Amino acid sequence: MAIRMTRRITRRDFAALAGGLLVSAKAVSIKALAQTETPLLTRAIPSSGESIAAVGLGTAYVFDEDNETTRSKADAVVQALLKNGGRLVDTASTYGDAESVLGEVTATGGLRDKLFIATKLEAPDAQELKRSLARLKTAKVDLLQLHNVSRKQQSLARFKEWKAQGVCRYIGITCTTRRDYPAVEAVLEREKPDFVQIDYSLDNRGAEKTILPLAAEMKAGVLTAIPYGNGRLFHAVHGKQLPDWARVFANSWGQFFLKYLLADPRVTAVIPGTADPAHMTDNTGAMRGPLPDADQRRRMVEFVEGL
Ligand SMILES: NC(=O)c1ccc[n+]([C@@H]2O[C@H](COP(=O)([O-])OP(=O)(O)OC[C@H]3O[C@@H](n4cnc5c(N)ncnc54)[C@H](OP(=O)(O)O)[C@@H]3O)[C@@H](O)[C@H]2O)c1
Repeated sequence: MAIRMTRRITRRDFAALAGGLLVSAKAVSIKALAQTETPLLTRAIPSSGESIAAVGLGTAYVFDEDNETTRSKADAVVQALLKNGGRLVDTASTYGDAESVLGEVTATGGLRDKLFIATKLEAPDAQELKRSLARLKTAKVDLLQLHNVSRKQQSLARFKEWKAQGVCRYIGITCTTRRDYPAVEAVLEREKPDFVQIDYSLDNRGAEKTILPLAAEMKAGVLTAIPYGNGRLFHAVHGKQLPDWARVFANSWGQFFLKYLLADPRVTAVIPGTADPAHMTDNTGAMRGPLPDADQRRRMVEFVEGL
């Protein structure tokens, strides 16, 4: 009996050890993958086929006040984005001084041509556009979005004119309020913008069944706003270790949360907000190594729902 028990324990221990070794070997390999020059995750913008790095930077809240401290943080964050292969920066006319801070950093560093700049207007208003371009210190933006679409009849006619005039290369709409999804769907279907920006995170998946399928049908690129639930996801896992099964595709909680979104091929890019260059580097790490498969994604949802 003692021998049989010993054998059973030994086998179990061996299996656990072997499993552990396998996990740590995989964890090492994903770390190595992330650190070396493995291919960067890029996505094609559906309306043009232009390739864009799949992790960008959001600038809501983080660059609100134009002062030396903010500019130096913004510069470090943008440099970290570029150094790690990213390009997309999303801002808005209403994000405090963010457009001005970004414009200053871009002009001082001669970075304009390296970045894909997306901004948002509250309305199709030429004065608002002029102000945004002046603050961003640029003659044209890459993506011009109509912010917070909430009415089905909202038109993108002026945005289309501006695109034709070369003021922007792409046009888009944004929304982060579930009750406005019907308006977003109507505008998406009728106006066929190049992009739709929508709230989508591991714990807020409403867009999966509504906006994402329609965006794919309309051939609109998808930017996921608030991919960390504005930090809510980090609070939920505070003090918790990344589970071993997730270490095969993620090096950090940030990458765990972003890779869930990036594993959906309908997502063009995620735009987490950060004022911290180390976080920016962590976020861009989600463009390296494997993405979770369908089973792993189901497990990720169960995990987050169980928190
Ligand atoms: N209606 C709209 O169109 C709309 C609405 C909301 C947002 N957006 C867009 O979506 C972007 C993202 O949304 P958001 O900034 O509100 O929320 P978020 O990206 O979900 O979360 C941002 C928070 O996560 C933290 N964070 C970022 N990277 C991290 C990392 N690797 N590790 C730990 N913490 C990390 C940031 O803190 P640190 O600064 O310390 O890194 C910040 O507190 C906005 O900036 C904006 O561009 C659009």
